[in-house]
Amino acid sequence: MDYDTLTLRPISPHLGAEVRDIDITRPLSNRQVEGLHHALGHFGVLFFRDQRFDFDSQKRFGRYFGDLDIHPNTPGPAGHPEILPIHADATTKMIAGEKWHSDVSCFQEPPLGSILHLHTVPPSGGDTLFASLGAAYDALSPRMKTYLEGLTAHHSGERNYRKRNRLNGVDDRGRVFPEADHPVVIRHPISGRRGLYVNRLFTTRINELPEEEGEALLRFLFEHCERPDFQIRFQWQPDSVAFWDNRAVLHLAIWDYYPQVRSGSRVTVKGGRIAA
Ligand code: SIN
Repeated sequence: MDYDTLTLRPISPHLGAEVRDIDITRPLSNRQVEGLHHALGHFGVLFFRDQRFDFDSQKRFGRYFGDLDIHPNTPGPAGHPEILPIHADATTKMIAGEKWHSDVSCFQEPPLGSILHLHTVPPSGGDTLFASLGAAYDALSPRMKTYLEGLTAHHSGERNYRKRNRLNGVDDRGRVFPEADHPVVIRHPISGRRGLYVNRLFTTRINELPEEEGEALLRFLFEHCERPDFQIRFQWQPDSVAFWDNRAVLHLAIWDYYPQVRSGSRVTVKGGRIAA
């Protein structure tokens, strides 16, 4: 595609681009939205600087790409259920995204993407890492690709959300958390590229394999997806925004800045069933 409405600076051969000379806090033209949608499918994650989102403008930007999800564990602030606060300070016991993951892959219809805005960042640290699931798939041997064909994996929110609730003193007895089965190898709905769709935070087993075999295979796939050559690392500044495609990349938030404050908000754009 010819990105005539966008100025893009690719970050690595595998993923990521910085989008310049655009104000995403204001209404966008159809051509800008179309260009961003295509660029997201191609690069997997887009970065923007100096975007002073408030909740309304962040939600408006998200809605250009689809309806917004409400997080299954963490309610948004009053009047903004679609906003997921991302906040850490000296009282925090566990941050969001400390293990490699694709957001809420435990949903039957996992989100297309997530849009994170940070207004407050620590003096140093607090980076987010992203890894390309397409590059990870491409690097597998032909034999491994054949072996993975047709396998499905189970994803569950239970372990992660109950741990977070226990640490935060939230009583979640009686609550039921989402779970779903998805193909291990998926076809990206925008780019058509094949990619691995498993992650440490939510994927619990391979449905078609005995437990020990499935565990060993998952361990290999997690480590393979997390190889540094499929990764980029984003350094936040106040009012940076990252927009990632949850079907194309994994991400990991680094908590190396305790007890400093890192704070902002995320909206999550609904996706659909994940196809093999
Ligand atoms: C998340 O997983 O959405 C949090 C990412 C981050 O804080 O960098």
